[in-house]
Amino acid sequence: MQIPQDLIETAALKLKSIQSEAEFFQLRAKFLGKKSFVASSFSKLRGLKSDEKVIAAKELNILKNNLIKLFETALADFEGKNDSVQLDVTLPPDPFNVGSEHPITKISQKIVRYFTPLNYQIFSGNEIETDFYNFEALNFPENHPARQMHDTFYLNSNSKSEFLLRTHTSNTQVHAMLSEDLPLYMLSPGRVFRCDSDTTHLPMFTQIEGLVVDEGVTFGDLKGILIDFIEHFFNEKMEVRFRPSYFPFTEPSAEVDIKFGNKGWLEILGCGMVHPKVLEGCNINIKKYRGFAFGMGVERLAMLYYGVTDIREFYSSNLDFLNQFYS
Ligand code: DAH
Repeated sequence: MQIPQDLIETAALKLKSIQSEAEFFQLRAKFLGKKSFVASSFSKLRGLKSDEKVIAAKELNILKNNLIKLFETALADFEGKNDSVQLDVTLPPDPFNVGSEHPITKISQKIVRYFTPLNYQIFSGNEIETDFYNFEALNFPENHPARQMHDTFYLNSNSKSEFLLRTHTSNTQVHAMLSEDLPLYMLSPGRVFRCDSDTTHLPMFTQIEGLVVDEGVTFGDLKGILIDFIEHFFNEKMEVRFRPSYFPFTEPSAEVDIKFGNKGWLEILGCGMVHPKVLEGCNINIKKYRGFAFGMGVERLAMLYYGVTDIREFYSSNLDFLNQFYS
């Protein structure tokens, strides 16, 4: 079988003058495609005597591999050249969605931003908690009816289990009072858990707890700071109402409602003066110190702020919903 020795040079020469990718592929088909000299020579091998066949097959394989290498290198060179011609670094990049903070994170940070300039320290608390910090130290005695209101998730199915998922961020009050020096100004955002779910309740939600223990602290101070906070939060003067309520760890206790357009009064937080029993349990001298505390539901505030009507939307992972808060 006659194998033309200049086939590689001819291909290399032709490759030098190609202008487009289409021309490249046409040329490659001519030298390596089904109708190429190489392909048709392979099919003629069958008709040869076996010693001739071995030699010819070897030569043809060498030729074919050299052609493949030649075309591969030429393609890489061609693409490289093309890139440098087409790359315009002044073009704006393709829009790239880097995501954004979750609306609940945004609202939590907005709340925290009000309190940190007032020297409130941020405390992170434990989500897995003992009965002592979640209930007992907060003056919820065993079998107290207020415990039932909390729909607690116990960490084993026995309601006497010592470990539970905290039902409120008030557990951080106890940790802070037991570990920090006085006076104490603290804020503690975090997740809490209750066995509850509908359009306004979730089994997991977010609260922000506030606690002040200092000399001469009054209910008037508590009212002042909360009213000012609410007005900063909504960026307008709001009608605010302190409605007497009951929490075992505060006395007196109140719930705070705000008047929200045609929706009427809506509750946004609980608060009160820290119960002397709670202070004493944390080794605080109640002749010298008093405290006030408050706890707010972040999802509730976020719903009012953004006009969201179903609390479950926040955790549905629906990008159409979440992208509305993109900024
Ligand atoms: N822990 C209460 C709850 O989850 C809210 C609360 C009420 C927190 C009064 C407080 C407070 O700090 O003083 O229902």
